[in-house]
Amino acid sequence: MERSQWGTRAGFIMAAVGSAVGLGNIWRFPYVAFENGGGAFFIPYLFALLTAGIPILIMEFTIGHKYRGSAPLSFFRMSGKKAEWMGWWAIMVSFVISVYYAVIIAWSMRYTIFSFNQAWGEDTEGFLFNEFLQLTVSPGQTGSIVWGIFIPLAIVWLVTLGILFGGVKKGIELANRIFIPTLVVVFLIVVIRAVTLDGAMLGLDAFFKPDFSAIMNPEVWVAAYGHIFFSLSIAFAIMITYSSYLPKKSDITNNAFITGFANSGFELLAGIGVFAALGFMATQADVPVAEVASAGVGLAFVVFPQIINQFPGMNGLFGALFFLSLTLAGFTSLISICETYIAGISEKLGVKRRSAVLFGGGFAALVSILFATQGGLFFLDIVDYFINQFGVAALGLVEVIMVVWVLRKADVLKGHANAISDIPLGGWWKFCLGIVTPIVLGYMMFGLIRLNVGQNFETDTGNYEGYTNMFTLTAGVGVAVGALVIGILLSIGKWHKDHAQFKEDE
Ligand code: ALA
Repeated sequence: MERSQWGTRAGFIMAAVGSAVGLGNIWRFPYVAFENGGGAFFIPYLFALLTAGIPILIMEFTIGHKYRGSAPLSFFRMSGKKAEWMGWWAIMVSFVISVYYAVIIAWSMRYTIFSFNQAWGEDTEGFLFNEFLQLTVSPGQTGSIVWGIFIPLAIVWLVTLGILFGGVKKGIELANRIFIPTLVVVFLIVVIRAVTLDGAMLGLDAFFKPDFSAIMNPEVWVAAYGHIFFSLSIAFAIMITYSSYLPKKSDITNNAFITGFANSGFELLAGIGVFAALGFMATQADVPVAEVASAGVGLAFVVFPQIINQFPGMNGLFGALFFLSLTLAGFTSLISICETYIAGISEKLGVKRRSAVLFGGGFAALVSILFATQGGLFFLDIVDYFINQFGVAALGLVEVIMVVWVLRKADVLKGHANAISDIPLGGWWKFCLGIVTPIVLGYMMFGLIRLNVGQNFETDTGNYEGYTNMFTLTAGVGVAVGALVIGILLSIGKWHKDHAQFKEDE
């Protein structure tokens, strides 16, 4: 079977950047940076980007390009069954992320519409939790379906699966070619407007002011590594899958640097825009910026609506452009997250892409209804926390140790990348992958496990966000461990005959 290919190099880069630039860049990065030392956070951030982010991105691009398969197929072709399970584990992690990621895009779409007449009113917090999410149940309960979320969610899935239905070139590449330039223009307008607001400098000052004591805090390093993984879409199976569609003559290293720096550039822009707007709000309320800054859901869906309410003019337009940016950034990432399992299913079973889209994507869409219920936010919160720490970060650690130390493929991969890339990989690459990243990530995992497991389970206290043991063990730990176990189980069967054979220079 002919393997699908990207039409152009720019098309591939746009798709990779589209995957990397997502909800993580716009609503997660600004707050993570602010909370972890502001300007001083850039030191661990850059360190994580250069020693783990870009080296792992190069490794994943090389694996996908050399073995030309979905993540499990590429790992299988590289080292057989003893590597294949990592690909399925990554796919399972992506599956879990896709089912709640889609819901955040659905919220953003609704909020784009709400922006026009500030339908959220004065009490934006009450509106979000009581009227929009209808969060009136306890964590772990679903309550009934919230139609105001269900309907946009259905649209998110229809659009995403429709694009994936179109294939690599006519679906994914085309969508990214439209969405990414639009996103850049729309987001630039938002940022430029934000930095020209009254009090913007106050916000930027708070954002960039370095708190150097933070650099000595290990948790700040953990935050930097965790963020880089999520933000760059590495250890998600995504970048292996995307690079498997590259033509034989393609640059690897340079593409990885472009993707990594474009992602960080966008992230920095998001930080500037968000904090300029927060500075404006703090000035209006005459309080310090720290008092108005808040994390994740709160930042985008409570604080931003407040900012839009107080805007000096064209409130509706500014709000709509901000939420449209979130929606577009989300779509291009969700497409890539779903492509991991669509490629995996289609190759393992030897079925056509369209059947895999219907089956895999359809199943994900069904599961995601859980997050469109009244208790959806609690499920989203706990699943997101555990799957990121014990899915993405743990997988990143296992991946580098396996590739460098167990399967000993670093030199082979380096040779492959160097033969086709402009920038040659030197000893630094293997050193970062084999030594620096395992030490930092290993330390991070150890700390996280101690934090989550080493506690007293006789009482219901001390869990993440104070959730009960039952909820933590099922929706948190259960989902993260489940992804690994199901991943291993999926690696058992044989590959369809079309894919089992692989000659490296075919
Ligand atoms: N890399 C994607 C994001 O930042 C998943 O949201």
